[in-house]
Amino acid sequence: MWRLLRSTDGDARFDLVEAAAGNGRLARDVLDAAAAEKPEFYRAIDLHLVERSRAARDAQAATLGPHAGKVASSGADIPPAIRGAIFANELLDALPPHVLEMTGDGLREVYVDVDQQGADFVERLGPLSDARLGTHVDDRNITLEPGWRAEIVPAAADWVRQAIGRLERGFLLLIDYGHEARELYSATHAAGTLATYRRQRVEDAGDGMPPPWLAAPGECDITAHVDLTLVRDAAEEAGASTLGILDQTYFLLGLGAAERVGGDPGEDDVAALRRRLALKSLLVPGGLGSTHKVLIFGKQVGTPALAGCSYRIRATR
Ligand SMILES: C[S@@+](CC[C@H](N)C(=O)[O-])C[C@H]1O[C@@H](n2cnc3c(N)ncnc32)[C@H](O)[C@@H]1O
Repeated sequence: MWRLLRSTDGDARFDLVEAAAGNGRLARDVLDAAAAEKPEFYRAIDLHLVERSRAARDAQAATLGPHAGKVASSGADIPPAIRGAIFANELLDALPPHVLEMTGDGLREVYVDVDQQGADFVERLGPLSDARLGTHVDDRNITLEPGWRAEIVPAAADWVRQAIGRLERGFLLLIDYGHEARELYSATHAAGTLATYRRQRVEDAGDGMPPPWLAAPGECDITAHVDLTLVRDAAEEAGASTLGILDQTYFLLGLGAAERVGGDPGEDDVAALRRRLALKSLLVPGGLGSTHKVLIFGKQVGTPALAGCSYRIRATR
């Protein structure tokens, strides 16, 4: 991406924007790799970290260590006039969903209420909080049978439109769990996809127990699968073109990950084995390789041949 922009307008600088950057761990890994393998690219980077959590932002300088000087900005919003790439890992699935349920009387929204004793949180069905949710379901041809649940996340489309708007020229790369709408809103996901994670594991409510997001609010990550169709439509409406929508497996294979499984020259056996296992867990189809999708959009860049997009549209269910 850096070479492409530089070759067309001669400007060597490159804004690298991580959204939902947390404490900067992924940005540090990216900068470590750039410094070791592409020093010219490393020198060109202006790093921007976008993160809502103040506590996470405060931890970024310590995490980045020797790269802290690369930070051009750190704030809660994407800066304007970005020329480079904006990327985010697991941002869209963390945005707040509206949970809808189809009933015999039509579409209802799931609200959080307290039980009669005022002791515990409970779910309560009520009218749609915003008429646009019903329009969204109708306009996008989402068909829900009675009893089915679905999450609608207008905030995801808003975020994508804003990101493309802030991009003057360059790329948006998103990595997230998700499905195309026809799969997400099908019988396979009739119970919806809202889930909570604690220490990287999905929590299970157990029979007769309240769902974890009601039992321990504020103590777990709440997530809902991303509607990839909505994201693509929002990006294209905002003026971007879709360059790739891929399972993580195909994104990494396109980038040549398979050739790196063997380890690097000079690496000892244990380090090589560790790398092989780590890469395998990201690559393996059916596991993280299939659940994680990579979406790549371009603005004012034409239709370049990117290695990571070699397989272009290749998202399995
Ligand atoms: C599931 S975490 C992912 C963190 C990191 N990208 C990773 O892969 O480990 C989601 C992060 O997004 C941040 N976040 C949520 N909404 C955001 C927004 N609108 N803009 C920026 N960051 C946001 C949260 O504070 C949290 O750090």
